[in-house]
Amino acid sequence: MATPGIGLIGLAVMGENLALNIANHGFPIAVYNRTRAVTEQYVAHRTAGKPVTPAYTLEEFVRTIARPRSIAIMVQAGKPVDSVLDQLLPLLGPDDLVMDCGNSYFEDTARRSAAIAPTGIHYFGVGVSGGEEGALNGPSIMPGGPEAAYPRIAGVLGAIAAKVPDGPCVAYMGTGAAGHYVKMIHNGIEYGDMQLIVEAYDILSHACGFSAIEIGAIFAEWNRGELDSYLVEISAAVLQSVDRDTGRPIVDVILDRAGQKGTGRWTGQDGLELGVPIPTIEAALWGRNISALKAERLAAAKVLKGPRQSRLRGASAERLVAAVRQALYASKIASYAQGMSLLATASAERGYSLNLPEIARIWKGGCIIRARLLNEIQAAFTRDPRLPNLLLDADFRAAINERQAGWRHTVRTAIGLGIPCPAFGSSLAYFDSYRAARLPANLIQGQRDYFGAHTYERVDRNGAFHTEWLVPEASANGARIVTSQPAGRGGGH
Ligand code: 6PG
Repeated sequence: MATPGIGLIGLAVMGENLALNIANHGFPIAVYNRTRAVTEQYVAHRTAGKPVTPAYTLEEFVRTIARPRSIAIMVQAGKPVDSVLDQLLPLLGPDDLVMDCGNSYFEDTARRSAAIAPTGIHYFGVGVSGGEEGALNGPSIMPGGPEAAYPRIAGVLGAIAAKVPDGPCVAYMGTGAAGHYVKMIHNGIEYGDMQLIVEAYDILSHACGFSAIEIGAIFAEWNRGELDSYLVEISAAVLQSVDRDTGRPIVDVILDRAGQKGTGRWTGQDGLELGVPIPTIEAALWGRNISALKAERLAAAKVLKGPRQSRLRGASAERLVAAVRQALYASKIASYAQGMSLLATASAERGYSLNLPEIARIWKGGCIIRARLLNEIQAAFTRDPRLPNLLLDADFRAAINERQAGWRHTVRTAIGLGIPCPAFGSSLAYFDSYRAARLPANLIQGQRDYFGAHTYERVDRNGAFHTEWLVPEASANGARIVTSQPAGRGGGH
């Protein structure tokens, strides 16, 4: 068997399938797992006839790979990555290459990249999206690291990535942690997409009394149109699946308490850190968090009452179905606008030099958020790479205008019936806030200056000002007459 030029450490679900994908594309690969039995099982059941060389110690693994080595790590994010690196790096030399293909937090990748660079070993943080099926048959891949070394892995990544008409779903993202950062934003958008879809399901279920099977069929129909996407497709499948044990739709017997491994939370944290509004993604986060309060919600349901449940029928139900479809698409646009804005801001703040149309392109296949919509997003940022916000693109303006009435009808109906729609509502509020020439933040500035002398700006003159709110100079017919003192001259801080 030919000497492997690449190796993979970590034969859990993602690692075992990624290694097979690499071998299936003709790249001899060495594999290692800390637990020997896992490697033995893997070799016994999955690698027959493939150029996969097992190793049972890390030293043997490294010796098996032709220099300069390229080694993928696929282990749980956090300390396990540091532990593997602590054992692996001393066995490597200059020009060897290590790529962490797990869901590492981007700040961890930045720290590791900086620590490893002086050794001459090339370190990459590589986002890999698509789950088990994607890892085996074609993920979307987001590599970040030293650009000069990227050609070393461009070939194998291009071979194993998912393919769309305009190329493989992989592209060099940028230096340092750029790859893991883009993957993190992918996951934030994923959370938002998932929350929007489940709110559509919840509204149609509670407002129209449709069964899971019926809503699944509606989603399957939507998936044949502009909402064509992996997440709508799988949601339709889940809703139309029947539990063998009970004969009921399986979604009706799944506990309504969402888990999360943290990647979406990291996106929310960075949006707050960078001051980029991402309300749809934040709504998805608190939607998961409040779902986890199952015991409290059961108790609260007994005492906190909302509007009397009413079912829409006939034309009203049909109108709502059409409106929810419009609301879902418009909200997705708002959510992607938020995600792309955060990418652009992070790129500028952290020097990633991210290429937004290319990111949209590689998300068109293989990854969890793959969707027809990404073609339009790619086109929008290709037309104008410096587009301040997706909402401003002419095609997206038109797309939202066509759907605005349905969007508002959906949110109004849900709120009127007491059906929670945090993501639909946040997406609409983001749209209304972003297009507002004047927001009520003027009163926030007045409040802040009143209680904290934090000063404010005026619309009619430059500079910062403070007002002595407690001592109005006079009052004419009840109004408190005050003045703006230029800050610094005894006013404000
Ligand atoms: C992907 C997925 C994956 C995600 C897991 C867990 O792109 O393949 O986003 O990386 O981390 O599905 O997601 P949760 O955070 O929802 O647990």
